[in-house]
Amino acid sequence: MFGKLYNTLVFVLLFCHDLCDCQKKKETLLSEKVTQMMDWTSKRSVIRMNGEKFRRFVKAHPRNYSVFIMFTALQPQRQCGVCRQADEEFHVLANSWHYSSAFTNRIFFASVDFDEGSDVFQMLNMNSAPTFLHFPSKGKPRRSDTYELQVKGFSAEQLARWVADRTDVQEKTRHAPLLHPPDHSPAPGQGPEPQEEECLHAKEDFVLEGGPDMGFLGAAFPMDPSPGIHHFVNRVIVTPNISP
Ligand SMILES: *[C@@H]1O[C@H](CO)[C@@H](O)[C@H](O)[C@H]1NC(C)=O
Repeated sequence: MFGKLYNTLVFVLLFCHDLCDCQKKKETLLSEKVTQMMDWTSKRSVIRMNGEKFRRFVKAHPRNYSVFIMFTALQPQRQCGVCRQADEEFHVLANSWHYSSAFTNRIFFASVDFDEGSDVFQMLNMNSAPTFLHFPSKGKPRRSDTYELQVKGFSAEQLARWVADRTDVQEKTRHAPLLHPPDHSPAPGQGPEPQEEECLHAKEDFVLEGGPDMGFLGAAFPMDPSPGIHHFVNRVIVTPNISP
């Protein structure tokens, strides 16, 4: 009788220990990931990701933050003029979020360039850029986690509305001021119509069959080798009435 009870007790204790251990490891991993994401985002409001970073910080669990990603193709040889404009707008949005009082560690902005993360494009069965996708903190991306670029254009304001709709920080995000750069390119619809040919279209080398049908979000970066801080600073300086 006592032996049986003892065995049960030992079993329960061991089981608990493993469970707690696993829980602790998960918690540590999560905390490391959040710290890393915060570190990156403090250096540039749009985190640049390659395949490895994408798998670890966006695809893999545990994760308790949302990531909005712009998939893009900024290398000149890709000839994606639209990517450049979308990149600018996405940075306006991400910078605004970064300096807004609503900023939290539950929403991050990132980008994957085709020339740095073609494996991600393959994984997602993605064949055009720019594309914007939301990866929610919980569950799989739904249809509405793919930004309707063709319908809504890619102005920072429209993107902000979409971000608000896909997260629970709606009001705050909506009211966050958008910081615009001085040489702001024409808003979509006002500028020249994006030409089909300008976009990156399916090419044999990066279309895979049967990938998971996930939503996408696109992002891009300045071409200059040390993008980031000065970029943000410029934007803040030209809008002195908006406190970062
Ligand atoms: C996510 O989890 C980490 C680690 O526990 C924590 O530091 C962070 O504040 C959490 N983020 C949110 C938005 O709850």
